[in-house]
Amino acid sequence: MTGSSATPVVTVDNLTKRFGEVTAVDSIGFSVAEGSITALLGGNGAGKTTTLSILLGLLLPTSGSVTVFGEDMLRHRYRVLPRMNFSSPYVDLPKRLSVAENLTVYAHLYGLDRIPERVAGVARDMEISPFLDRPTGTLSAGQNTRVALAKALLNEPRLLLVDEPTASLDPDTSDWVRGYLESYRRRTGATILLASHNMAEVERLCDHVVMLHEGKIVDRGSPAELVTRYGRHTLEEVFLDIARDRRSPGDRRAAGDGRDGNVLPAAQ
Ligand SMILES: Nc1ncnc2c1ncn2[C@@H]1O[C@H](COP(=O)(O)OP(=O)(O)O)[C@@H](O)[C@H]1O
Ligand SMILES: [Mg+2]
Repeated sequence: MTGSSATPVVTVDNLTKRFGEVTAVDSIGFSVAEGSITALLGGNGAGKTTTLSILLGLLLPTSGSVTVFGEDMLRHRYRVLPRMNFSSPYVDLPKRLSVAENLTVYAHLYGLDRIPERVAGVARDMEISPFLDRPTGTLSAGQNTRVALAKALLNEPRLLLVDEPTASLDPDTSDWVRGYLESYRRRTGATILLASHNMAEVERLCDHVVMLHEGKIVDRGSPAELVTRYGRHTLEEVFLDIARDRRSPGDRRAAGDGRDGNVLPAAQ
């Protein structure tokens, strides 16, 4: 189902983004298989949002290339944007417009047809129908996240980019959002690339993980492969190893430090 042998939907090659002195993204390369849910996993400042913004054409890279649906994103992004969308809790919709007005404005911007039906459809999917007429600025964080996702689903994207889908949500709403993303992928065969620092989320949802630390890819693989390779029980433990700059068990043995990696060391 994940189509790993097919042409990737996204290919990033040797991508670098510098903001003055800061190298936010440092020569990274990865691809996203069609129909997969792939994660960019990393702590604060790892370069996840910067990478997603470049994929969307919102930021220009310092160097490197990005191909989406076989098109060079830096030259022909308007050919592929209609098949993409993104959702981020950090992008505010105009607060005084009602939820329905915001969704309608975006549907027009996307050049969609049957706009009232589409707005009603995504509102039903995201369970936001009861507050379509409320000013967007009066919504709770959980409601806002669902409205942002509704906006991202308006054009039924074949490639959905999601930045921190469950940041600031309670566990119940987080679980519901994760379940929705899974069912959207299953129902439509769409490809999802999500940025997250939530290991449990990534472990549950993702087929493939690209681990970022300080702008660099430090490892990649399926959650199960990574857990096995590091001799750990959970992706969270793997992540702590990497974030604290420890090495895989093979490297540790080669360096003669004796730990077998089965016990998570005390926090440092
Ligand atoms: N517009 C910007 N100007 C300067 N530095 C930025 C800008 N955007 C991001 N950065 C820096 O780039 C690095 C990566 O940021 P970001 O991609 O937002 O990380 P993440 O989403 O993984 O938390 C951080 O050090 C951040 O401070
Ligand atoms: Mg971010």
